[in-house]
Amino acid sequence: MADTWNPEQYDKFSGHRQRPFADLMSRVGASTPKIVVDLGCGPGSLTLTMAQRWPDAQIIGVDSSAEMLDQARRNDRDGRVEWMRSDVESWDPLQLGEQIDVITSNALLQWLPSHRQLMPGWVAALAPGGWFAMQVPGNFNAPSHTLLREVAARAPRANELLPRLRAGEAVDEPSTYVALLAGLGCDVDAWETTYQHILDPDGAQDEPVLEWTKGTALLPVFELLKEESERADFVAAYGSALLQAYPRQSFGTVFAFRRIFAVAHMRGTLL
Ligand SMILES: C[S@@+](CC[C@H](N)C(=O)[O-])C[C@H]1O[C@@H](n2cnc3c(N)ncnc32)[C@H](O)[C@@H]1O
Repeated sequence: MADTWNPEQYDKFSGHRQRPFADLMSRVGASTPKIVVDLGCGPGSLTLTMAQRWPDAQIIGVDSSAEMLDQARRNDRDGRVEWMRSDVESWDPLQLGEQIDVITSNALLQWLPSHRQLMPGWVAALAPGGWFAMQVPGNFNAPSHTLLREVAARAPRANELLPRLRAGEAVDEPSTYVALLAGLGCDVDAWETTYQHILDPDGAQDEPVLEWTKGTALLPVFELLKEESERADFVAAYGSALLQAYPRQSFGTVFAFRRIFAVAHMRGTLL
């Protein structure tokens, strides 16, 4: 998946994507962290908001996609962030040689089934008083995803497509993250929110929900269907199903999107 990400497509909805990160970070109370790491930093726009919030912190953005990191470097005009290419699954938090004050991960862990096993290592790398903050989509049973699986089930390469498409097991319920992180000795604040995104209020896009999913949920399909006509057939079938599920209204297209948040605070004092 590392090479499938397209920063331009992903950034089409950057305003909508910023809100959950802002809500997540509003619950992180660090005042003067020294080291801050953003796992799966993507095009870096959200990482850079942390550089603004904590001007004296060393900020590190980790991502496996060269395209995303190129965009992040372009966005980081002042060179405030160290952009690091690495797979988060093999990224070793101890390589920094110092304890970390804040680790964030926004809209990444749903791609990594191993995130439940990786979290103890990240929490163990936190300084006393440090913070771990994560946000994942919790919308795998929404029409955007059920329709994707339905169209894939009817597609000529269904047997190859279906195993790539994530269902509810990609993420856990907030209560499971509470138990996991509290069990690691943290104070935990977890919640869920369903955002009512109003897409394309100006009516400039024919298929706004399809445009959104082209930047994320459709990527595993694009990775497999490289041939133009098979990809076009799939997108046409999925797009018309989306238009029925998310009809345009006079004020735009409502795209309800559930998200799951967890913030863990290591006990102790952040120096
Ligand atoms: C949905 S984007 C989120 C980007 C950013 N955190 C944001 O919220 O705007 C997911 C990002 O995770 C990255 N990613 C996916 N799998 C990864 C992995 N195994 N290791 C590191 N990065 C990964 C992708 O390259 C992409 O930039």
